[in-house]
Amino acid sequence: MGSILGGDAEDVGVVARFFGWELDSQSVAATALPNKGTTGFWNCFTSRSFDVIKIGAGNEQSGCQVESMKKAVKWVVAVLVVAAGVMQFFNPKLENPPVDPGSDMMASNAPPAPIATIIHNACYDCHSYETKWPWYSHVSPISWFLVGHVNDGREAMNFSEWPHDDPDRASRRWTKISHRVDDGSMPLNSYTWIHSASRLTAEQRKQLSEWAATEATKLK
Ligand code: HEC
Repeated sequence: MGSILGGDAEDVGVVARFFGWELDSQSVAATALPNKGTTGFWNCFTSRSFDVIKIGAGNEQSGCQVESMKKAVKWVVAVLVVAAGVMQFFNPKLENPPVDPGSDMMASNAPPAPIATIIHNACYDCHSYETKWPWYSHVSPISWFLVGHVNDGREAMNFSEWPHDDPDRASRRWTKISHRVDDGSMPLNSYTWIHSASRLTAEQRKQLSEWAATEATKLK
């Protein structure tokens, strides 16, 4: 077997059967098409209509119903475009509730400046009320994905609502932060993939994780 694109005739049969195209030799014979001797999946796909293709070593002739296939593809694309348009009316609310500076972690528990910067850059979009919503966060269905992460993130731990008056809880948070940064599960990969500023170097990871662990012990 040759390659599928421009490959040998046998491939065409395999590909056509895979897509459920009918290879109907009789209809081809009946319409007596000019035999262009087209072979290969790509030629078949781009040919205008019922171009003749050769199948197999026996050189048996058959046709592929490219035209109906093309119509089907156009319909599928049209339906997807309309669905994507309608979806834009169903965007979730992207909320940043007002932040009371006094209740932010930085108010009572601020780490040294370099570590504070790491946390701001790599964690605050999901774990605070100071989320920077990028333009694509207004586009459904991406919006649902992002809002889900932010809501779950805020619920799990919110730097904008730091438990200042509960050192035990604050301590437990730092312990978790230390672990999740150390094991590499935070920040989320899907986030660092797009936000290069949030990618932590091994050194930054170590700094943040160690500082968090120390802070957790202090607060206990
Ligand atoms: C893209 C969003 C996102 C970013 C960015 C992010 N997180 Fe998270 N984080 C989540 C979500 C969602 C959860 C809840 C699900 C889970 O535990 O995996 C979570 C959970 C956590 C938890 C567990 C809290 C608990 O009580 O179980 C910790 C700790 C944490 N994140 C720390 C961090 C730190 C530290 C950073 C920055 C270095 C960070 N996260 C960046 C989304 C994010």
